[in-house]
Amino acid sequence: MVSTLRWQAWSAAALMALSTSAMGAGKITEADSSQFAKFKHQYGSWQQTAESKEVVDALEEDPMLVVLWAGYGFAKDYNKARGHHYTITDLRATLRTGAPSGPDDGPMPMACWSCKSPDVPRYIDANGEDAYFKGKWARGGDEITNEIGCGNCHDNNARLRLSVPFAERAMDSIGMSWDKASKSDRQSMVCGQCHVEYYFTTDKKFVKFPWDNGTSTEDMEKYYDALQFSDWTHGLSKAPMLKAQHPGFETSLTGPHGRNDVSCTDCHMPRVTNEEGRKFTDHNVGNPFDRFEFTCARCHDQSKEDLEAVVANYKEMVKDAKLKAEKQLVHAHFEAKAAWDAGATEAEMAEALTAIRHAQWRWDMAIASHGIHAHNPAEALRLLATSLERSADARAALARVLAKHGQTDPVALPDISTKAAAQVAVGLDEPAMQKAKDAFLETTVPQWDKSYQEKYGTDQQ
Ligand code: HEC
Ligand code: HEC
Ligand code: HEC
Ligand code: HEC
Repeated sequence: MVSTLRWQAWSAAALMALSTSAMGAGKITEADSSQFAKFKHQYGSWQQTAESKEVVDALEEDPMLVVLWAGYGFAKDYNKARGHHYTITDLRATLRTGAPSGPDDGPMPMACWSCKSPDVPRYIDANGEDAYFKGKWARGGDEITNEIGCGNCHDNNARLRLSVPFAERAMDSIGMSWDKASKSDRQSMVCGQCHVEYYFTTDKKFVKFPWDNGTSTEDMEKYYDALQFSDWTHGLSKAPMLKAQHPGFETSLTGPHGRNDVSCTDCHMPRVTNEEGRKFTDHNVGNPFDRFEFTCARCHDQSKEDLEAVVANYKEMVKDAKLKAEKQLVHAHFEAKAAWDAGATEAEMAEALTAIRHAQWRWDMAIASHGIHAHNPAEALRLLATSLERSADARAALARVLAKHGQTDPVALPDISTKAAAQVAVGLDEPAMQKAKDAFLETTVPQWDKSYQEKYGTDQQ
């Protein structure tokens, strides 16, 4: 018995060593980026992602979002993206991850760490995917503490790579295998490990990209519909909802730059010249206009001001269409709630709820693709137009259901003019959640950092 167990342990370790050496580096991912400091310019510019520190509360800016995400974590707290340096800080601080009191407590699964840290590939290299994805988010607290770093995009010899098996599988499924991919595809694929649509599978809570039918919004919608998958049941309308994550990779593919093989790094990580006149890749992933001469100006003759104005104009157009689509969705959710309250049956509601699901998915694919106004504004406007169409379907169906139950007056909206008012309207107690979070940040998080340090000797935080 003992010898069998020992044999199993030995062969598992040997297999692990074989499979990691086949990955190129021959070692488990180095998660501590300071170990790469000898790459002075790359390391130095990577550190500059800390300079993009501004926190913008998206719910404060647009309280309709609270209604659209009622019953789901994003209604509690949602800030706009900032520098890669802040991934761990922000994930710990968001109300979405709650205030877990132990490793088995809290609302989120382990999968939630997957796009935040080089400790994720490190952990998977050492223990396998099954072990990584098991359990709640808090279980990973003292394993995953380093912000996005070298190990997310490179092996231990600083060669570019995909670092996680779930991204490799997804890229393979759309014919973008790493071994066969072009240099420019690889430069986008490393971003596509995270800036993509993904979901957590119902059985094992694995991360999967829903690309089996293709990467368009409609392909993914069909994929989810066939699975009857939903991320959550809406708190007001009870519709089976989908939450788009950050599908920038997919929505860029069909834009003017994506179609012309311009990679993410051509704009966000340009080749620049150092003091000694030598070229290197600028690792301060941020706004391409900040380094205009190395980004847009490499390919375009227009001035910075002219191109900024073009992008700003698209941004306004997308924002305007977005607010219109949201307004229709807000009405649809409250009208569905009124229909349930009036005694509607599940059969009567089915058509409207499917239309709400599709309308919000299409809206979200446009909105959660950060930077889409620069990457593919035509696609954003197309998606928002189809969202409006499906909202119209939903509201027409709901009007019929409401009429059948004797309700012909318009359904009034509660006060949703501020984030606080909208949160009350959907039944959230934000101050109580914040209080629990503050206590968690003060007591649990320092323990996580201490325990990591004891185990691995380093911690970037
Ligand atoms: C988000 C992904 C990403 C992260 C994180 C990242 N790199 Fe890179 N790195 C790249 C890309 C993309 C290139 C360009 C590769 C190419 O052109 O084929 C690159 C190139 C390099 C090169 C080759 C020389 C050059 O300048 O082009 C070195 C060395 C390097 N990175 C070091 C680092 C170090 C050190 C860190 C951590 C401090 C790091 N990288 C973090 C994506 C990343
Ligand atoms: C390991 C996952 C991961 C990888 C790989 C990754 N990102 Fe990110 N990126 C994120 C997360 C998460 C955020 C949001 C961070 C926050 O707000 O705390 C982000 C934020 C950003 C931002 C906003 C920065 C700012 O200052 O506002 C840009 C731009 C961006 N990423 C582009 C890229 C590009 C381009 C690549 C590929 C070269 C890339 N990312 C690779 C996860 C990733
Ligand atoms: C043609 C240049 C270009 C390419 C290629 C490009 N981007 Fe962008 N991206 C931009 C610009 C410009 C902005 C900022 C627009 C603005 O100022 O409002 C932006 C914004 C973003 C943002 C939002 C940043 C924020 O703070 O909200 C993210 C994330 C992002 N890009 C990721 C990517 C990824 C991932 C890829 C590849 C799949 C990519 N970009 C390809 C030009 C580009
Ligand atoms: C590596 C080269 C390259 C870089 C870098 C680049 N572009 Fe482009 N851009 C292109 C190509 C190629 C096209 C497509 C031209 C065509 O279809 O005729 C294009 C098209 C455009 C268009 C017209 C899109 C449309 O609706 O047809 C705009 C606007 C634009 N780029 C803005 C920018 C901005 C802003 C940046 C910097 C953030 C940038 N580009 C960086 C190569 C580049």
